This record gives sequence, C-alpha cells and structure tokens, in this order.
Amino acid sequence: MILLDGIKTSQDLRNEIAEEVEHIVKNGGKRPHLAAVLVGNNGASVTYVNAKIKACEEVGFKSTLVKLSDTISEGELLAEVKKLNEDPEIDGFIVQLPLPVQIDEKKIILAIRPDKDVDGFHPENVGRMALGMSGFVPATPAGIIELLDRYNIETGGKHCVVLGRSHIVGQPIAMLMARNTYPGNSTVTLCHSHTRNLTDIIRSADILIAAVGRPNFVTADMVKDGVVVVDVGITRIVDKTKKSGYRIVGDVDFNGVSQKAAFITPVPGGVGPMTIVSLLKNTLKAARGKS
Ligand code: GUN
Repeated sequence: MILLDGIKTSQDLRNEIAEEVEHIVKNGGKRPHLAAVLVGNNGASVTYVNAKIKACEEVGFKSTLVKLSDTISEGELLAEVKKLNEDPEIDGFIVQLPLPVQIDEKKIILAIRPDKDVDGFHPENVGRMALGMSGFVPATPAGIIELLDRYNIETGGKHCVVLGRSHIVGQPIAMLMARNTYPGNSTVTLCHSHTRNLTDIIRSADILIAAVGRPNFVTADMVKDGVVVVDVGITRIVDKTKKSGYRIVGDVDFNGVSQKAAFITPVPGGVGPMTIVSLLKNTLKAARGKS
C-alpha cells in the first residue's frame, strides 16, 4: 500500500508557488492577494479559514480576513461581496460556507465576480469546467486531481466510483474524472443516497472517491484488492483525550481498507492540505489574469 501523502505533495506545490511569487515580485509585479469572508464562528469554518490565511503567508501572498457577525443580513453580506468585487487590490476571494440561515448561499455565490471566484462556485466557472474551458475549478476536486497526477495514478478506462453528489466535491470530481484528458478518461459512477446496490458498485471500483461525510462509512469488506482510495471525509468526533476535544475521521475505515488498497489518502493529511494549496493555485491564476 502506498500512502497518497497530501502533506508532502502540498508542501512541494507550496514551494513551487512561493518561488513563482518571488519571481513575480522581483520583476516588479505585485503579490497575489486573497480575501476570505468568515460569517459567524462555526468551529470548522474558523479552522479552515485560518488555515487558508496561514497558507497565504507561507507562499508570500497577501491575505485579508473579513470577519462578520452571524446576525448579518443578506443585503449587508452582498454589499461586502460588492466591495471585494470592486477592490483592485484583491485578486480573488472566498465566502466560507455554510452561511447562516437568513442568507441564501446561491445569491451570494452569484454575486461574486467570476474572475475573482477562486472557489470556482459561480455558475460561470461551473459551466466553464463542464465545457473544458479555462476558469476556476473548485479547490477540493482540483486537489484530488493534482494528487492523482503527482502519484502517476492510472485513470484511463478505470471504473471511478464517487460517493456523494455535493456541488463542492462529488459533482465536480465526477465531471473531472470523466474528462477526455489525464487524470480522467475514467468510467464514472456517481453514487448518492438513492443509489441501489451500493456495496456492489463500490466493490467494482478501481478508484473510489468518498465524499459523504459519514465517518468510517466504507469498510474493508466493501472494496476490492488494489483499489485506489481518496477519502474526502472530515467529520469531527468528540475525543476528550485530544487537546482540541475532537479528532477528525474520514469516510473510509483506514485501518481495514488500507490492508486492501494499492493507494490510499490518510485523514487528516490527505485531501485537506491539497484543497488549500489548490485555492492558492487559483489565487495565483487570478492574479496572473490581471497582469
Ligand atoms: N466550506 C466547505 N468547503 C468549502 C470551500 O471549499 N470553500 C468555501 N468557501 N466554503 C467551504
């Protein structure tokens, strides 16, 4: 079994990005600048946003954290988005999801200028990805593709089973794995809560991408020998023995499944760091787009 090491791979990528930033700055260009909007103080969202801001510092980007109260109205948040759209200093920005109930997430995503939408959530970017046109690909699927690429995982003609049809992970990764390019050219089955004979489908997977948010959902008896496993799950489980009071558990029972897998991502340290570095790559692309 070979571990798909997201920490090492993302560090290599960060080094490459940092080098490019220094090259830009040396030649009189400006540092890429990412802004992150955090509404409220949902524990997971705070952790993710802080990690994104820290990653910016590590590669020499500028970053701005816009912290807003969870009682903010939709109109007020739309006004913040407009400000960031119009601020020439900001190359790209994200609005961390989920948002409080009084805010319609779709309206916020639609308000983000597509050329600053480094999350790749705006319908223009989703459409561009579907059509194989240039644009921003969401960070988690982009990170998975990069990881498969860096480990030279064969994908052409393989049966890729995706668990979960979220707009952030399942749908886009299914689309990317079916693309007519490497990594891609897989035969993709997208599974969800209405899928019948799920275990049979999972057992036929050459590549399994699990993004359902159900801890240890995939067990060893459900997979075939030699499977490539990408675990996107990051559920927080209460664990009093940890300083933080919780531990992170993936969608895949790592101990069991790793006995049968050819390649597998750990949780944490697999897809998570790749997601963050993909956001940095998108931000660099947004900054370059303007120069
Ligand atoms: N919430 C969970 N994942 C993401 C992400 O990739 N981007 C944003 N903006 N919110 C998220």
